[in-house]
Formats: sequence, C-alpha cells, structure tokens
Amino acid sequence: MIVPGYREHPVEPWDPSSPVDPGEAEDFLRRCYTENPRLGPVEPRLAIVRAQIAATGTYVHTTDELTHGARMAWRNASRCIGRLYWRSLMVLDRRRARTADEIYSLLVQHLLTAGSAQIRPVISVFAAAQPGQPCARVWNEQLIRYAGYRTDDGQAIGDPRLIDFTAAVRGFGWRGKGEAFDVLPLVIETPGDGVRVYELPERAIREVPLSHPEFGWFAELGLRWHAVPAIANMRLTIGGVHYPLAPFNGWYMGSEIGARNLADADRYNLLPLVAARMGLDTSRESTLWRDRALVELNRAVLHSFERAGVKMSDHHTESQRFITHLRNEEKAGRRVPADWTWIVPPISGGITPVFHRYYDEFDERPAFYLDEEAAARAKGCPMRTR
Ligand code: ARG
Repeated sequence: MIVPGYREHPVEPWDPSSPVDPGEAEDFLRRCYTENPRLGPVEPRLAIVRAQIAATGTYVHTTDELTHGARMAWRNASRCIGRLYWRSLMVLDRRRARTADEIYSLLVQHLLTAGSAQIRPVISVFAAAQPGQPCARVWNEQLIRYAGYRTDDGQAIGDPRLIDFTAAVRGFGWRGKGEAFDVLPLVIETPGDGVRVYELPERAIREVPLSHPEFGWFAELGLRWHAVPAIANMRLTIGGVHYPLAPFNGWYMGSEIGARNLADADRYNLLPLVAARMGLDTSRESTLWRDRALVELNRAVLHSFERAGVKMSDHHTESQRFITHLRNEEKAGRRVPADWTWIVPPISGGITPVFHRYYDEFDERPAFYLDEEAAARAKGCPMRTR
C-alpha cells in the first residue's frame, strides 16, 4: 500500500545476471585496506581481484574483507540509530552452506549465538550470488515474527503485518495455533531443494512476557515479544559482490515494540485496550489518552526486558549514542548517511537530541538493500525470477 507522501523504502534495482563492477570492487578494497592497515598493501590484492573478475565475472572476499565489509554496511545503514557499535558486529562466514537443511541449522545457530545471555549483534553471510545463477533466500522478513490471521468477521488475530505471509505459509501446509503470538516457521528457498518450511526449535526463540512496573492487570493481557530482531531478507552488497542471504540482528530499542509493533493501528493496535484498562477518558482526543497509554505501554516493554535480563535500550539513551557516533565518524573523516524519518524515535521525538538537526542522505556502499523480489516473498507472493 502506498499512501501519498509516504516515502517507500528505496529499492536499488539489481540485475542478478550482471558481472561484478571492477570499479566498485576496487573502491571497496582501497577503503577496506586503508581502514585496516594490518591487512597490508592493497595493490597486490587488487591485481588478483582484477584477474578473478576478468576470468569469472566475480571474485571471492577474504574473511577479513567480508568481516569489515559487513561492518561497513551496518555503518552505512541510514535508517539505523544503533550504529555506534558497528565495529562489534560478529560476522559468521557461512558461504559454504548450500542445502536448505544446512542453511536452516545455521540460522538456528545464528539465533542461539545472538540471543543467549546478552543480545549481541550478529550477521550470518551465506553464499554470494554467482552472476546469472539462482540463489538461496529466506522468505521471512525477520527470522522471528508472529503470524497474523484474519477471522471470518474481519477481525485480525496476531500481527496484521504478517497476514499475507502467514497465508502463504499455510498454503505450504503449516498450521499455527491461531493465537496472538504464534512464531512463524522459516521458509527457505534454495536452487537445489525448492521451497521448504522449517519450524524453529523453542530454544532458539527467546521471548519476554510483558508486565508493568505498577499496573498488576497488565500481565493478564498476555502480551509478549521476541528478544532478537533479525532482518532476514535484505541483500548485503560489498565491493560489487551481492549476498542475497545475509540475516543480521541487533538488540531492540524499546519504542520499536512499545510505540510501533504493539501500538500502530495496523499492527497490534493496543492503545484503546490499555487506555480502557487504565480507566482513561477516551471520549475526546484532547485528554491525550493515546499518549498516556503509549507511555505506559513503553514502560512495560522496558521494564519487562530488564526484568528478564534481555538487553534492550531506551530511545533517549540510543539517541545520545547516535550523536556520539556522528561525532566519532566526523573525527574519522567520514560522512554519515542518515534518514531523519527513521532516526527520530516514534515517541517523544522532540525531547531527544537526534530530532533537532538535519542529516545527509546518500547511498554509500557496502550496504543493505531490500530487493523487490525479497519484499514480494515477505508478502507471500514471489515474483517470477529472471
Ligand atoms: N523495527 C523492527 C521490529 O520491530 C526491527 C528492526 C531492527 N531493529 C533493531 N533494533 N536492530 O521488529
């Protein structure tokens, strides 16, 4: 759905049959080696890469290049407020995995690595696209998401955002419980195995039941959310090489859940319910009942994650960290691409420091992109592949 004035995610068209652009490879390698003097001189490496591209249409990154490239892609993610810690990204090199079974077990490992004890930022990088050849993909937009169902009387159960995807997975034979927080299975598509559906094991799904620091009734609402936000369908591009399957995660900022997932009218839409339980006067907007319910919902999210010992940050802290990141990058002589509409938190924007300034918006690589084909699969309707 495109609402007038709503800026769609910029999709940079990608032609999977085109060979690697040697200029982009060179540009990346020069930066990578300049930023990491321990890798030695870049010239000999450039000679090898040029020859590889000439002979095969592509080249193979070293582990160091892959690691730094993935971190640079995070650093360049203009919508991410959490980039201060870009250097800490743990990069799992999964380029050798081919079958759906192998990919599945490595995705489970990803979740275990990211979500046990403290949440740590992790990316699993699977095989690079070979020009003109089909590649493996995960249909899910995130490794963990809740199913959405439309009942006969038009009501939504679960996450309405996932209704189309859930219908597609049901078409593959999956049956959810039909409850508000059914974790969806993974849909893995590979050239060799076609489309396969895998249920995640419980140990890989860390979840936090929500309660409120003061309102005893809040826990009875039976709300919960998962601990690890792991984007699964964005293509990572490094130095002209494309990795269509490279799921990555950070930790949550509370407002993503409390002010969007659970609050948006087209998601869980919980503000009317919370306001009613709080006994607020909802007869007029000017009582600010929505705002008051929103704050308490966000307090519940932060309180519950803290109580469960699951890492999460609040939007004030994360905003200050982003300002620190801007300062660090300036010192390092780098420009920071940033999208104001995404950086400013969805609650209390004006009382965070990120609100009161402009940002440069530009496309800097390495980067993550959401392809049209990936977006279509996340909606449950794959487009014909070229
Ligand atoms: N906003 C998305 C969600 O609620 C997650 C996006 C990535 N967030 C993050 N903290 N790394 O699921």
